[in-house]
Amino acid sequence: MSLKQHEQLNGDHAFIEDQRNETVLIGIRDGVSLEFKLFERKDAKLSVFDSSILVGDGIWEGLRVINGNVQYVNEHFERLFDTAYALWIDLGLTKRELLQLIYDTIDANPGMKESNDVHIRLICTRGLKSTPYQSRKVQIGKSQIIIIPEYKKVMPESYENGIKLITSWVRRGNPDTKDEMWNHLSKATDIMASMSAEAAGADGALMLDHNGFVKTCNATNFFIVKKGELWAPTSENQMHGITRQKVLDVARAHGLVVKEKNFTNTEAYTANEAFCTGTFASQVPVREIDGLKIKDGKMGPITKQISQWYKEDVIKNVTRSREQTLLELED
Ligand SMILES: Cc1ncc(COP(=O)(O)O)c(C=O)c1O
Repeated sequence: MSLKQHEQLNGDHAFIEDQRNETVLIGIRDGVSLEFKLFERKDAKLSVFDSSILVGDGIWEGLRVINGNVQYVNEHFERLFDTAYALWIDLGLTKRELLQLIYDTIDANPGMKESNDVHIRLICTRGLKSTPYQSRKVQIGKSQIIIIPEYKKVMPESYENGIKLITSWVRRGNPDTKDEMWNHLSKATDIMASMSAEAAGADGALMLDHNGFVKTCNATNFFIVKKGELWAPTSENQMHGITRQKVLDVARAHGLVVKEKNFTNTEAYTANEAFCTGTFASQVPVREIDGLKIKDGKMGPITKQISQWYKEDVIKNVTRSREQTLLELED
């Protein structure tokens, strides 16, 4: 299948096509034999009895790789392993072993270790099942671990033009339904929100909580800048984004006034700046919400400054050697 067959993406996940992705090598650690193998894209397959296919049961992380090193790997693995624990998923390996499999996958792909623009989708399903059913009792073996690396450069227009959001009718669930802080494979809520945005001609959806406060976007976290202060919706009912946390950390470390608070759509419409965050595109400006322009619709000075601080922090994080990174991972 040619990569050209999909429609052009807009917004915070728009990327430049790269033909090398057609033959990229994908790593799979089988949950039954526990063997790890590399497969060409066209040959990388899972059984139809895998929990991810049968009941959308599994977890994932989106990782950025810079010169062969995984950015903020400690934080991503903490979220992944905590999620696995909370959901009774047996990953069947340690953090160090998992990172080594990721390194092996990167190194097997020519030129990938030298690239600044590699994105990995790491998927850990609950595992193979003997029959289509939800219970862990019909599970065979451990998690099936899939490492999909791609050469994926962010489309520069995303930063220049910003994105257009609409408020979706789909709300973020409370933690007593599906806890939204984790990266579950089941993205039905976010996908419905994304579809509602697409139907309205927008690039993404702004989602509210059950009290009607602004919470997050369907695939990224959301921030506004108001009178020089950085405002983030409170952390519940949304993904505990690594980028969101790093933005809060660098902004606080540089003395910006940072508030995690409830705020409304009308406060967002009148923000001086608004932006989304995620591992793939870091910080992307929002130019419009519900048909209302956010100031001049360009990336504002505080977003630019935060972006710069974030970049510096990423560089610091990925300039550790692989040996040091492995050593610093707790097991
Ligand atoms: C719903 C949602 N929000 C936010 C994010 C951004 O999280 P991170 O900054 O860890 O990439 C993601 C990405 O996984 C997501 O799926």
